[in-house]
Amino acid sequence: MLQQLDLIQQEIEQYHPNTLQELEEFRIKFLSKKGVIAQLFAEFGQLTPVDKQALGSKLNTLKQSSQEKYKIYAAQLQSISKQTAAANEDYTLPPPADKLGSRHPISILKDKILEIFEKIGFSVVEGPEIEDDWHNFGALNFSPNHPARDMLDTFFISQSPDILLRTHTSSVQIRIAESQAPPIRAISIGRVYRNETISARSHCMFHQVDGFYINKNVSFVELKQMLLYFLRSLFGEDIKMRIRPSYFPFTEPSVEIDINCMICNGSGCNICKHSGWLEIMGAGMVDPNVLKNCHIDPTTYTGYAFGMGLERVAMLMYQINDLRLFTENDVRFLKQFKADA
Ligand code: DAH
Repeated sequence: MLQQLDLIQQEIEQYHPNTLQELEEFRIKFLSKKGVIAQLFAEFGQLTPVDKQALGSKLNTLKQSSQEKYKIYAAQLQSISKQTAAANEDYTLPPPADKLGSRHPISILKDKILEIFEKIGFSVVEGPEIEDDWHNFGALNFSPNHPARDMLDTFFISQSPDILLRTHTSSVQIRIAESQAPPIRAISIGRVYRNETISARSHCMFHQVDGFYINKNVSFVELKQMLLYFLRSLFGEDIKMRIRPSYFPFTEPSVEIDINCMICNGSGCNICKHSGWLEIMGAGMVDPNVLKNCHIDPTTYTGYAFGMGLERVAMLMYQINDLRLFTENDVRFLKQFKADA
């Protein structure tokens, strides 16, 4: 065995791999599990203790030196192969295109809505998500004991003064109307918060759009035509609009707007509860009390207002059946949406 060890030692010393491929051949031949050195160790196990003593250290040296050699050559050859790859790179080629992300369905819808209203002269305004009772309720003509003020519906941050998370974007109407003189034509989109249990159909945070127009002689007919223009621009020319009387503290008269169900085309489905119509927004003529609260003279000025939830519309447009998908950040859901979709 001693002779055999010397021969192998020589062979290893003379081995000079020039490529990573040759180095791999070296590794397989000498250092792999079934390689020469592993076999020598297996044979070593069968030797008598005297022979073991004579050969042990030689065998260990052989193993260490070949491992060392492998390491040195691996480092050298890898750095050479990187250098040649870099030298072969064509730096005049354009870089690979960055992978583009997709847009959130609510952002896509938001932009569409803003574009529609900007075309007819609405300016885009913003208001705070943390509001006081006056802007969210009081100035909008909610009575002091209105149930919406209840802790069960509203997230209060502090009491006296009452600070809360706005429950609707109608609060922005007040912020703008109290700080600007009519004519005012503005639209606001943003997050609103309500103390509701999270489920497929309700959430504690969602988005609304609210718009209003205050001027001399603003009439209900203008509201109706503007809403028809809006719904046609958003859903297509064939959309049908239905107006039903309703109640909101801040509008008089108040209405709710329905559109024909585009899921079943009026034949009746679960989404429209077999009525063929979907309730989509609230609207009305601004209540004179609201104008007064904003120091606008209701005998000179009138106005209309409207409000709509964005998630509900996005669910209809993209046939999404669970409200939670909007906030869960599941990439499989998000990557389906493109800005032009
Ligand atoms: N603020 C109402 C809500 O959250 C929606 C609404 C209804 C807004 C009528 C308006 C309006 O501006 O005129 O349910």
